[in-house]
Amino acid sequence: MNYYKRMEQKFSALKNKKDVIILAIESSCDETSVAVVKNGREVLSNIVASQIDIHRRFGGVVPEVASRNHILAISNLFEEALAVADIDKADIDAVAVTYGAGLIGALLVGVNFAKALAYSLDIPLIAVSHVYGHICANYISHQKLSPPFACLMVSGGHTAILQVEDYFAFKLVGSTVDDAVGECFDKVARVLDLPYPGGPEIDKLAKQGQNIYHFSVSNALKNTYNFSFSGIKTAVVNFVHNKMQKNEQINKADIACSFQEAVTEELCEKAVKNAVESKTGKLVVAGGVGANSRLKEKLLAKCKENGVDFYAPVLKYCTDNAAMIGSAGYFMMKKGLGLADINLTAKANVEL
Ligand code: KG4
Ligand code: ZN
Repeated sequence: MNYYKRMEQKFSALKNKKDVIILAIESSCDETSVAVVKNGREVLSNIVASQIDIHRRFGGVVPEVASRNHILAISNLFEEALAVADIDKADIDAVAVTYGAGLIGALLVGVNFAKALAYSLDIPLIAVSHVYGHICANYISHQKLSPPFACLMVSGGHTAILQVEDYFAFKLVGSTVDDAVGECFDKVARVLDLPYPGGPEIDKLAKQGQNIYHFSVSNALKNTYNFSFSGIKTAVVNFVHNKMQKNEQINKADIACSFQEAVTEELCEKAVKNAVESKTGKLVVAGGVGANSRLKEKLLAKCKENGVDFYAPVLKYCTDNAAMIGSAGYFMMKKGLGLADINLTAKANVEL
């Protein structure tokens, strides 16, 4: 019997196993991470090796440099994840891996490691979408949270409003028609000469500033659940360049604050409106920009006003990590989804 046929049987048997241990791998961008997750909710270990310091000198992620550093890190992280979880290789029931979306060379490192591991241990391999992982970061942060709920997905590559109907059933309600919001945070930070990654830097700096510039998000999508952020990004970048050309002083904190106020307002308005309409009584934020303190503050306040419960992942599960992939792998397995063959390959873009 070939690998996939054998795994079909093992995979479906896992559905009824009392405790399922998943070894998860994430390498889609500049974080190499390996985690051990029990029953989709309990994180036994979550080791993250960040490459931020390596890429900072370039002002952003250099894909080839990221791939090479994933290769250097992954074996040791695997050993560490097992040691911290206090388990042996033989205790792993399945391997879950991010196969997309992300940087292709970076993804391939995790995918190939996962394939070799699953094949050598003769256990199932589960292919997980990175974006789905971000949603599942909430299941490990809030033990009682379950679908259905409304979701605001805000990361470096995605900005969307989703209806999460079941653990693996979603409806796309709206999305960005141009830039992802994380991308805009990073670009604005760059023009302000702040270190990479820009989002957390803008978040920090904005606390010392005031919204004196009143930048605004385009009105064209006002009555929809779609977003457009490229206009405000360009407006801020042009504003700063203009000031610099004229040798005029700029107050970076005020610019950061004015930009952040406008984008968080837009995200908050639409996300909470949809949550109310969804009648689920719950709004969940997911993805790296979900770490933004002002966004969370606004979402919490507006949810309260509207009788909606608000959930955000704890900070360490908000940005890229393997624990969320382990959680996603478990819930996919429960639905009989995601079993991959040994010819699994990485994809730069994937549907949710
Ligand atoms: O989800 P993530 O870690 O990776 C992707 O899947 O893209 O998101 C990374 C993005 C980056 O653009 C980063 O600047 C942004 O999340 N980010 C933040 C904050 N922390 C991370 N943006 C705003 N405020 C933050 N505190
Ligand atoms: Zn991510």
